[in-house]
Amino acid sequence: MSNVFEGSKIHNILKDERFLYPDYVPERIPFREQEVSEMVFCLKPSTQGKKPENIFISGLPGTGKTVTSKFVLNELEEYSDRTKCLYINCFEINSYNGIFAKATNFLGYPIPIRGLSNEEIFERFVAVIKNKKIVPVFVFDESEQLLKKEDTKKLLYDLSRLNDQFKLFIGLIFISNDPMFLSLLDDRIRSSLNASVIKFEKYSCQELKEILKERAKYSFFSNVMEEEVIPLCAAHSANVGDARVAIDTLLKSARIAEKENSKKIMVKHVRKAFQEEKVIKFEIINNLTEQEKLILKLISKEEKTSVEIYNILKNKFAERTLRKAIFELEKKNVIEIIEKQLGKGITRTIKKKNSPF
Ligand SMILES: Nc1ncnc2c1ncn2[C@@H]1O[C@H](COP(=O)(O)OP(=O)(O)O)[C@@H](O)[C@H]1O
Ligand SMILES: [Mg+2]
Repeated sequence: MSNVFEGSKIHNILKDERFLYPDYVPERIPFREQEVSEMVFCLKPSTQGKKPENIFISGLPGTGKTVTSKFVLNELEEYSDRTKCLYINCFEINSYNGIFAKATNFLGYPIPIRGLSNEEIFERFVAVIKNKKIVPVFVFDESEQLLKKEDTKKLLYDLSRLNDQFKLFIGLIFISNDPMFLSLLDDRIRSSLNASVIKFEKYSCQELKEILKERAKYSFFSNVMEEEVIPLCAAHSANVGDARVAIDTLLKSARIAEKENSKKIMVKHVRKAFQEEKVIKFEIINNLTEQEKLILKLISKEEKTSVEIYNILKNKFAERTLRKAIFELEKKNVIEIIEKQLGKGITRTIKKKNSPF
C-alpha cells in the first residue's frame, strides 16, 4: 500500500514559508532604522571593552521589538569579538537560578541549577564575568514576567548592582509590551539601571504593506497573489499596527489557497483566514468550564487575589478546583497571575488580560 504522504500535492504558492515564521530574522528591518541606530549607539562601547548603556524597549505587540533586537545582536556579534550576546525569553525561563544557569553556561562556565542558594549562584556569576575579557550583553524579552515573582525581582536587583557595586561591565536590554515596566521597578533598581528608553510605535497600514511585500518576496513563488491580498492583510491588522497579525494572516491565506488547489491567493482566501481567527477566539471563550467563566466574571471589573476568589466561590467549588481553574485560565492566556511578597507569605493577584479578547 502506498503511504498517505506520497502523492500528496506539492506547493504551488509557498516557496518557503519559513520566511513568514515569527522567529525568522530578516536581513533588513524596514521602518526601524532609527531604533536600530539608537540601539547601536547604546551598545557600541561594548565593542571597545567599555560599559554599554542599558536599554528599555517598549511598544505594543507586533511592533518589531523582538526581531529588531535579535537583528542588532547578530550584527554586534558579527562585528566584535569583545562582546557576547544572550537572548532570554522570560516566558520560557523565569526563575532566578534558571536565568543565571543559562547565563553562566553561555559564558562557558556552567553551574549546577540545584543545590546552590541564590547567593552562591550570584557569587559564581560575578566570578565568571570577572574572569572574562568580554562585555556580555543580556536581553530579557517579555521582561514584565520578571516582576511577577519575588525570586525574579531579586534577579533584577542583583543585575542592577553588577555595575555600581562590582564594577563589572555588562549590557542589559529589557523588552516589554508594558510601558510601565521601568516605573514598576524599585527606585533603587531603576536608578542603577539608568536605562535609555526606546519606544516602538505601531506600524501604519502603508508600512505593514511594505513589510508584507518584502517578506512575500522570499516566501512565495512569483505571481501567486491577487493584487488586493497584501493591502487587505495590512488593513486587517492596521488597527493594532501589529506586523505579526499581518504576516500570520498572509500565511494562513496562502495555506487555505493551497488546500483549495488554487493557483493564486485570492481575496476570498484572506476572508476565510479572518473567519478562522474569529472562530478560534470564540471557541476558547465558549469552551471554558463553569468555574473558569465565574472567575473571569469576578475579575472582569477589577483584579482580585486568589484568596478573595476562593472566599467568594467557596460555597460552590473546592479551593483545589478553583486553583486549577486559575492555572488553566493562565495557560489559555486569558488572565495573568502576579505574585507579591506580603510578610512571610506570597499573595497572587489575578488580572484579566486585555488581549486577545
Ligand atoms: N519592520 C519589520 N520588517 C519585517 N518584519 C517585521 C518588522 N517588524 C516586525 N516584523 C515581523 O513581525 C512579527 C512580529 O514582530 P516581533 O518582533 O515579534 O514583535 P514584538 O516583539 O514587538 O511583539 C515577526 O514575524 C517579525 O519578523
Ligand atoms: Mg516580542
